[in-house]
Order: sequence, then structure tokens, then C-alpha cells
Amino acid sequence: MINNNSKGTVFIIDNNKLCGVLTDGDIRRLLLSGYKLQEKIANVIGGEFVYAYNTETYEQVLSKLKNSIKIIPLVNKDFEVVDYVYYDKDVHVPVADLDLRGNEFKYLIDAFLTTWISSQGPYVEMFEKNFAKFCGCEHAVTTSSGTVALHLALLALGIGKGDEVIVPDLTFVATINAVLYTGATPVIVDVEEESWCIDPKEIEKAITGKTKAVIPVHLYGQPCDMSAIMAIAKKHKIFVVEDCAEAHGATFDGKYVGSFGQIGCFSFYGNKVITTGEGGMCVTDDPVLHKKMVLLKNHGMSQERKYWHDVVGYNYRMTNLQAAIGVAQLEKISEFLRNRAEVEEKYKKLLLDIPFVEFQRDDLPKRKKITWLVSILVNENRRDSIISKLKDKGMDTRPFFYPLSVMDIYKQYAARPCQKSKDIAARGMNLPTVYNKKFEETVNMIRESF
Ligand SMILES: Cc1ncc(COP(=O)(O)O)c(C=O)c1O
Repeated sequence: MINNNSKGTVFIIDNNKLCGVLTDGDIRRLLLSGYKLQEKIANVIGGEFVYAYNTETYEQVLSKLKNSIKIIPLVNKDFEVVDYVYYDKDVHVPVADLDLRGNEFKYLIDAFLTTWISSQGPYVEMFEKNFAKFCGCEHAVTTSSGTVALHLALLALGIGKGDEVIVPDLTFVATINAVLYTGATPVIVDVEEESWCIDPKEIEKAITGKTKAVIPVHLYGQPCDMSAIMAIAKKHKIFVVEDCAEAHGATFDGKYVGSFGQIGCFSFYGNKVITTGEGGMCVTDDPVLHKKMVLLKNHGMSQERKYWHDVVGYNYRMTNLQAAIGVAQLEKISEFLRNRAEVEEKYKKLLLDIPFVEFQRDDLPKRKKITWLVSILVNENRRDSIISKLKDKGMDTRPFFYPLSVMDIYKQYAARPCQKSKDIAARGMNLPTVYNKKFEETVNMIRESF
């Protein structure tokens, strides 16, 4: 029964009454202490076990769950099992949560039933068209991930060996890895203290005769200073590839991120604002770049002459099944962004009186950030203990990314010391950005752990 129910637990019931709980761990321990599998259950139960009455309050019941006790039976006054409470469902608070309650299933089944399950099919085109419109761009190209979107963008711009590409120190590694895949040399620069995003002054300092492009990353939903970055790029004739993996819908001076540079790259990984499971997108206004990206993501196959290849291409395609989910997710993006912003506002109100918590800035001129993951800075010495205390209480949080320049495989690419990024990374953490009926309780857990 334990195997079949996949919960690792059985409730032992005799004459309709609960008489014990047995877990796979109990069985393992019994076998180790000499019992055989043929042993009667009646002979091995009888000790104390945890249960709750269905008349107890939600909080009383939850307090009986721990890391080690993940599932408990709920009984009525006659000791009959009427339900159970499950740690992962009832106690565990994840950092991010998916909402697939719109048309996702409908479109997915539609794609499935029409057998367009590979990378051709109407949803791919629909997703590209709708996403381009969402960003205010002319063209969009779906890809199999956000990392691939960045690589494809750099390839389409002709970036390769001998070129330099400037990246921020504080980002997810995909940004710098995409540069390394092309054979170009990444140049890591520091971020701004207020926005945590790449510092335009540092970009300008790092430009050399070999610099071909810069990748501003709109980190944790915060737009980079795009007017300064675009001015520098224009002056030095370098390309701008925006990494918008964490900032769908953020704007700078009223214009959507992704629409400033030559190409904007997005991710639709499961924890992103909208998801396709895995997936990504490149957006551009340039028809030539658009054509190049379509060519390169499809094995470099000539669109005029099938199975003729003038360039070495890649298979970087998204499937129609993923795109079907993407179309449905995009229909609800405004609602998702509103909900996320509301969660952040609630945190701000409830944690207002904690002096050493600094929320991500939302008052920087021209920048309208979105809430991807609620991001805060706390006291450097306490960050890790706060994270582990919350973990013990069943709440997942995330420390910020490590700066690239502290990791052995990347440190050689730092143009100069990146002190601001180090300070921010050591103090930063992301809070669960999901609203549920336990939100106030979640906030109290955070308060107690500070
Ligand atoms: C800033 C940044 N760039 C790129 C990526 C890569 O996206 P993906 O995971 O879809 O490859 C991510 C997220 O995972 C990210 O956070």
C-alpha cells in the first residue's frame, strides 16, 4: 500500500478505528532490528503516533507537522479517519508557484489532439506574434530556453572569437555562459548600488577596441538605466542584447524592456513570470536579425531551398506544446503581474517596522519594475541564518546569485573589483512570491526569524 499511494505512509485501521501509523522508515528500522516482512502489523504498532482531531484549528493541526512528520491522519470523535494533512501541501511555502488555471490545459490538449506536438504548429506562431506585440516589438522568435535565446541573439549579431561582450557581475550564470559559448570573451563589470543592475559608468570604463556588445540584465524585475546604456552603445557603436529573463513587462520611460537593444531575450522557465515549462524568446525590430535567428535556430537550413545549409546552425526550437501553454500564460500576464506586485506591497506593509530590511527600490526615475521574486537586503551576517531558520519552518527562500567574479571559472573575466555586487549578493534574499491563505502567517515566520 505504501508503494501504491506514494506517500511513504499507511494508516492502520481496525474496526473502522485508527490504531496506528506506519511509514516506510518504520519498516526499514524494523527490518534492520531483525523483524521479517511476514511479521503481523499488530505486533509492531502500539506505540505513540501523531494524529489530529478534525475539530482542532488549522494552526493546531499544522503545529503537529514537522520535517520528520510529513503526513498525519485527521480523525473524528469516534477515532475514524476522515482526512489527512500533508506537509508539502499544507505547510511548505515555495518561493514561486505556477498558475496554470487559464486556457493552458485547453490549448495543450488542442495541440496534442491535432498531433502538432513538435516545433511546427499554430501555437508557435501565435505565441511569437502575441509576445512581440506585448513587448512592442516587430518580431519574436521562440527558443527552447532563455539561455539559448541569449546565445542565438549573440550568434545573429555575428559575435565570436576575438570579440568582447560586457556583462554585469550580479546575474544568473546563463548571461555569461552564452557569451562563452560563442567563443567571445566576457568582461564582467560592477552594478549600481540602488538598482542592483549593471552600472553604465562601468560599461563605459570597460569598453575597448574589441568590445562588440553589452548585455544589460534587468535583474529581479528591475529595469537597467536604458537611456544611459543606449547612449553609450550608440557612441561606441556596440550592440545591446537585453537579458529580460526576470523582467517580463517591466518598463523604462514607458517603453518595455526587450525593445531597447537590437535584441531582447526572455526565459519561460517554470519560476518565471510566465512559463512554458522550459522555453525562451528573442524579440527584435530588425527584420534582418529576425531572419538570421530563424535560420540559426533551425539548423541553418535555407528557407528557400530545403536541406541546403549555408551556415552551421542549431536546433534551438520550442515545441507547439510549450507554445500552447505560453499563449495561455500570456493571456493572463497582467493578472500575474498585478498579483505579484500585491504580494510585494503586502510584505512591505507588514515588515515596515523591521529596520534592517531594505526592499528593492521602486522609486528610481523612469524605471517601472515588476515583481518577479520579492527581493530584499538584510543584515549581511544574518542572511544565511534567516534562510535556514525559515527552511526549518517549511518556508523556502533564495539567497541572491553569487557574483560571477567570485567563482573560479569566471573570476578571470572581471574588468576590475566589483565591490557593490559583492555587498548586494551577500545581503540579498528572495521571499516566497506567492499569495495564499497563510500569507500573514508566512510574514510572521519571517518576522520571528529576523
Ligand atoms: C538573468 C537570467 N538570464 C538567463 C536565464 C536563463 O533562462 P533559462 O533558464 O530559460 O535558460 C535566467 C533564468 O533562468 C536568468 O535569471
